[in-house]
Amino acid sequence: MAAPRGEFSSRFGFLMAAAGSAVGLGNIWGFPTNAASNGGAAFLFTYLILAFALAYPALMAELIIGRHARANAVTALKSISPGPRSKMAAVAVGFAGIITVSFILSFYAIVSGWMIAFFFDPLARLLGLDGVASWLTTDAVLRNSIFVVVFMVMTVTIINAGVKDGIEKWASRLMPSLILILVLLILYVFTLPGAMDGLRAYLVPDFSRIADPLLLVDAMGQAFFSLSLGVGTMLVYGSYISKKENLPVIGSLVALLDVGIAVLAGLLILPAMYVALASGVEIFDAQGGLIAGPGLIVSVLPALFNTMGSVGLLVALAFFLLMTIASLTSSISMLEVPVAYGVENLGVERSRASITVGAVITAISLLIVFNFDPWFDRVVTTTTEISQPLLGFAFCIFVAWVWQRNGILEEIKQGDPDAESSLFFKIWPFYVKFVCPLAILVVYFQ
Ligand code: PHE
Repeated sequence: MAAPRGEFSSRFGFLMAAAGSAVGLGNIWGFPTNAASNGGAAFLFTYLILAFALAYPALMAELIIGRHARANAVTALKSISPGPRSKMAAVAVGFAGIITVSFILSFYAIVSGWMIAFFFDPLARLLGLDGVASWLTTDAVLRNSIFVVVFMVMTVTIINAGVKDGIEKWASRLMPSLILILVLLILYVFTLPGAMDGLRAYLVPDFSRIADPLLLVDAMGQAFFSLSLGVGTMLVYGSYISKKENLPVIGSLVALLDVGIAVLAGLLILPAMYVALASGVEIFDAQGGLIAGPGLIVSVLPALFNTMGSVGLLVALAFFLLMTIASLTSSISMLEVPVAYGVENLGVERSRASITVGAVITAISLLIVFNFDPWFDRVVTTTTEISQPLLGFAFCIFVAWVWQRNGILEEIKQGDPDAESSLFFKIWPFYVKFVCPLAILVVYFQ
């Protein structure tokens, strides 16, 4: 039998870990540019509604199953399935989650590697090593490979240390630093010319866009990716929460933190882009939309920092530190999914499991680095646009249609004795049973 399971030692620790998983590249660069190209505050408004009406119930489904079963995704889904057929489906969904999250990590590690390289760039320039600086910021297979490995070593090291001494300890240190850096950067950017135009682009709603199906699809995809749903991450983190905790409350805090940090990130990125515009940097692409994707982070913002003189070095350092922290607290939650399975179901020691799985995922990342153009976008699309929503759908079906209502109630009651009469329990079961699966399918087939 495997070693005893880990558990988060405090509510704060869990919150930082789960918010750390949720807050990642998706919030800091996905959300703001999505908002800017989808009608500003109209997107923000739709996103807020979808995040709380659909993503939060789906998050609760994962947390409740996880804490109930106190096991990895495969075992947990199996344990709530009564018959042999539903158990087979449980194994299939659990494994699909493990595979999906491993592929998500394989592309995430590449982008996170860029963030580390760009973090070292201002340091190199401070030391007068201009050759090194230009190597760090030039896209190349060697650079990308080295930083994928660096990032994966950091991820494996934290996971290797366990739930309390690895995940909880690092998330509790890194997440408050992330919020502090983010706020300081926002305050600084607000003092620069052009910032208010960016604020306007972000916050003035273009309500003619609100019924646009594309906006809905984008907002929904963003909410699911951002809350790390559908791949068992939140289920596994939920399995480490103490039975004393009130799950609906703790889940809503995670959702609030995630949404709050995405909204804050918008206050940084869009004003920064318009400051860049005011200093002569191109921020629109050929179609007239704002530059999003990698171009935003690895060319527009660095170009902006370059116009700021020596302060720019400091700002660049802070910004890429922020991005690295956001990536790392997400990547550890991804690696934990397959590692928890290896430890619990295959009886592998934690350090062996994390090193082996980490090595396999690093190898996949390197293959993608070597075949970047044909593979990168394909892996991103397949995992986040196809697999993740379908798995989110499957989790809702499991919790609402396969599991007995009484089982759910018993689980929530552990940390909240009055759960039965709570508003949450009046609304949520209906939501995960009908509204969530339907909405996911509708958006999926859009
Ligand atoms: N939520 C993370 C982000 O916003 C990404 C993620 C997806 C993390 C799936 C874990 C699982 O970047």
